[in-house]
Amino acid sequence: MLLLNPLLLGATCLVLAILYVYRCVASPLRSLPGPKTSLFSSWILKYHELHANRTRYIHGLHQRYGPVVRIAPNEVSFASLEGVKEIYGSGGSGYDKTEFYNLFTIYGRRTMFSTLNKEDHARRKRVLADRYANTNILKSGSLDGIRERSRRFVKRCSKSVGGTVDLFAFTIMLLTDEEIMKQVTFDDSLQNRLIQYYNPTLHGIIGSVLSLFAKPRETPLADDLVISATAKTSPEQFTLLSRMQDKNYDMAQIDMAAECLDHMAAGIDTTGDALCFLMWEISQPGSWHVQRRLRDELRKNPEANFDKLPYLDAVVSEGLRCFPAIPMSLPRYVPAGGRTIDGYFVPGGTIVSCQAYSAHRIDEAVFPQPETFNPDRWLQEAGELDRKRLFFAFASGGRGCIGKHLALAEMKILLRDVYSRFATLPDSSMAAGDMEMSDQLISSQPRGKKCLLRLVPVDGDETLEIVDMSEHAVRYD
Ligand code: HEM
Repeated sequence: MLLLNPLLLGATCLVLAILYVYRCVASPLRSLPGPKTSLFSSWILKYHELHANRTRYIHGLHQRYGPVVRIAPNEVSFASLEGVKEIYGSGGSGYDKTEFYNLFTIYGRRTMFSTLNKEDHARRKRVLADRYANTNILKSGSLDGIRERSRRFVKRCSKSVGGTVDLFAFTIMLLTDEEIMKQVTFDDSLQNRLIQYYNPTLHGIIGSVLSLFAKPRETPLADDLVISATAKTSPEQFTLLSRMQDKNYDMAQIDMAAECLDHMAAGIDTTGDALCFLMWEISQPGSWHVQRRLRDELRKNPEANFDKLPYLDAVVSEGLRCFPAIPMSLPRYVPAGGRTIDGYFVPGGTIVSCQAYSAHRIDEAVFPQPETFNPDRWLQEAGELDRKRLFFAFASGGRGCIGKHLALAEMKILLRDVYSRFATLPDSSMAAGDMEMSDQLISSQPRGKKCLLRLVPVDGDETLEIVDMSEHAVRYD
């Protein structure tokens, strides 16, 4: 009946529109800094998400509006220490995760990463945390595996001398089976999964047609691996599986498989991408002095433990500051009743987040010249505490990265093995935009999906002699 009467239909639409505008204008978020459009609609934000550009778009807003910015009618981004502490640290593990993390359920099960509330998370973390403690990572079982894979990586580097090496594909070598890892790493399901998140009903209806244009996430080889691995009994003592199979925890096999797949994905993309962006950066002529100094430290201390090398540590920290493998917002719900965050009252149910990319750049008192790659900043005593507190590459609080120590060990061992033997240069075939950051669902990767480097062996006898890389250099614009 309503549809048959255009006047009535028009009047209803007008009333609904007025109500919508009124609700937006009366929103408690109206007093927060941010573009006016964000008070009424999230379409601009969604547009950038679909174009793999959310992180940079939000960073642009922070540069314009400061450390607190409204990015959608119900969403606020923070880039300050106060924001980080309140959202991720209050009450131990911070605010609860939003339904965004539903996209990371596996086989229909929630893993530690995709649990939403504190209780579920704490229960799962009790099972798994012990395996990732630094004391366990430093035990020989885990380290032997990392060293062995790093050796294989270096062997491949040696074979590539005279040609180029694609670091983006190459870092997959850090992990066991290449084909499996390719499936997990070269995932291209951003658009498909965003539609699933924003409109599950629509996704249910058009899912099969949509998959022709926007690929869904599929990892059949990895699925087979984790399903068969978790069916085995008596795994090695230091493994995650041995812990999950402990009868005290009563975990179903499907939950163990989901957890294993999740940790594989969490560990591969992140560590691989972080290394890829970092090695690309220090291969640029403007950063050759970093390579030289690093090589100097590595060769002067061949017997030192990988975590006792200050310059290596500074290079890794600066790499993760400039190119955090998870640069984007980690969304959380403000608890019922609302909270004051960084001086602004934010009502309960609002989505709030920080993104490492901005937390590492906005406060120039903590990170002066934030766009400059400068490992030396990590060696200065002044401001050390503030730098560490604003360092958000692994997030913080009780839901921060459980794999942090493992990731740092992998990165440092590999960098030591490579840079004590080789100098690296960018390959001339790389185009300017190839290494731009392309947002995926949670991690980021090079837009060109390649990172071509040339490796130049550095003769073992010359010890601290400086390699004149300009001899090998090619023009790179
Ligand atoms: C450079 C490498 C890495 C970076 C930058 C990184 C970063 C992060 C960040 C930012 C989070 C918080 C995500 C959120 O709140 O939504 C996180 C969580 C997590 N990471 Fe990592 N990660 C890295 C490597 C690893 C590795 C090697 C593993 C394990 C093999 C791992 C396993 C996890 C898990 C299981 C969580 C969920 C923790 C929880 O909810 O309690 N990560 N990581």
